[in-house]
Amino acid sequence: MAREQWKSQFGFLLAAVGSAIGLGNIWRFSYLAYEHGGGAFLIPYLVALLTAGIPLLILEYGIGHERIGSAPLAYAKIDKRWEWLGWWAVLFVMFGIVLYYSVVIAWCMNFFLLSFDLGWGNDPNAFFFKEFLQVSDRPGDIGEVRTPILAALALVWLINWAVVYRGVQRGIELANKILMPTLLVLIIALVGWSLTLDGAALGLKAYLEPDFSHLSDPKVWIDAYSQIFFTLSLGFGIMIAYASYLPRKADITRNALLTALINSGFSLFAGLAVFSVLGFMATSQNQPMSEVVAQSIGLAFVAYPKAVSLMPGGNLFGALFFLCLVVAGISSAVSIIEAFVAAMVDKFGISRQKLVTFISVLGFTGSIVFTTHAGLLWLDIVDHFVTHYGLVSVGIMECFVVGWLFRLPKLRQHINRISSIPLGAWWDFLIKVFVPLVLLIILAGDLYAEFQKPYGGYSWASLIIIGRDWLLLTLVGAFAIACRPWRTTAHEQGG
Ligand code: PHE
Ligand code: NA
Repeated sequence: MAREQWKSQFGFLLAAVGSAIGLGNIWRFSYLAYEHGGGAFLIPYLVALLTAGIPLLILEYGIGHERIGSAPLAYAKIDKRWEWLGWWAVLFVMFGIVLYYSVVIAWCMNFFLLSFDLGWGNDPNAFFFKEFLQVSDRPGDIGEVRTPILAALALVWLINWAVVYRGVQRGIELANKILMPTLLVLIIALVGWSLTLDGAALGLKAYLEPDFSHLSDPKVWIDAYSQIFFTLSLGFGIMIAYASYLPRKADITRNALLTALINSGFSLFAGLAVFSVLGFMATSQNQPMSEVVAQSIGLAFVAYPKAVSLMPGGNLFGALFFLCLVVAGISSAVSIIEAFVAAMVDKFGISRQKLVTFISVLGFTGSIVFTTHAGLLWLDIVDHFVTHYGLVSVGIMECFVVGWLFRLPKLRQHINRISSIPLGAWWDFLIKVFVPLVLLIILAGDLYAEFQKPYGGYSWASLIIIGRDWLLLTLVGAFAIACRPWRTTAHEQGG
């Protein structure tokens, strides 16, 4: 059976941008910028984008296109012993990230509806944690689900299923052709509106005024690099799978540059809305800016709801904001599922439709734990381990496998033959030496902090069982699948 293909390179670009732009662009970026010196954070952010983000994105596009395969197939075609690496990425993403990511989308759907009557009243903090999530700090409190979240979750998985079921062209490409323009309209409306609010200037000042003293703090640089990694969906196996559906003649470097620029441009632009709203709130509440910026989850689900209830026309503003998050989230969630589906189809030659139905039911079931009273705790821990250790480890090994076990200049030649912007030998240096080194430093820094004190004040037992063991289990699964024989001839075909 012929490999599926995008209808057009533009369709591919939209889908890649859809994966990259997600929940992280809207609040994670803004929050980091504020924390790390406002406008001054742009310096490490751009350095990280240029020295690691774009080079790795080119690598993932290049390898998916040249090897014509999902992550496990692409690695297997480089060196059979490294097939597991691809499986590990797609497994912890499919059975880690997408399970709780879908639940956060479900929260956003609930908050979309709640915007119409501003159900969070005058204490959004108590509303979110006590009434909506009914948070428990006992990891074993998973006996009871929160029905409103479960209902929205079912809808999220129904959409995930419907999109991925229909395949690359009629599902993912078509969905993004609808979702991405919608997202653009929504964000322009939000930014335009927010700039007219009283106090917007105060917020923008906090967002953009550079405080260069932060640049000497290594944590700022570490956060910039990990944000770039996360925001471009690198190390998930997603971009490899998406690039494997490109036609033989495809402009790799140009598409990578465009994806990176659109994604970062979106973050910067969305930050204008986020901070204008916070400035409005500080002004109308007569509070300093530092007090309205809560921790990251609080920014979207506590600070924003509060601002919305103070705002003229807040119902509509809130609805637009949460709809924006839903749209950004769905296009990312489907990309994760596709990374896994592509891998299974490549290896076992099973029918996409049956597989997607099966894993959507499985995914929905697996997500349920995150809708219980202990859901936030589970979410926080799994997210911490997957993004801090899973993604970064995959990134390091990816550079090693492609940079050292594969003739990198040959890959560069392949890319240059079909791309409009030529790639110089500097790229080899970044992939072979610089990027893995930076990622190693990040990993070491994270590990060091991990042993200093348990993350988030959770008990060691819950961190180990929910976080570390989750990651290890997917690793065992990866080896198990990699040992199974190929049921297709995909790995023998040239590329
Ligand atoms: N790039 C996404 C973001 O910034 C991260 C992501 C991608 C998460 C795909 C999950 C799946 O939010
Ligand atoms: Na998205």
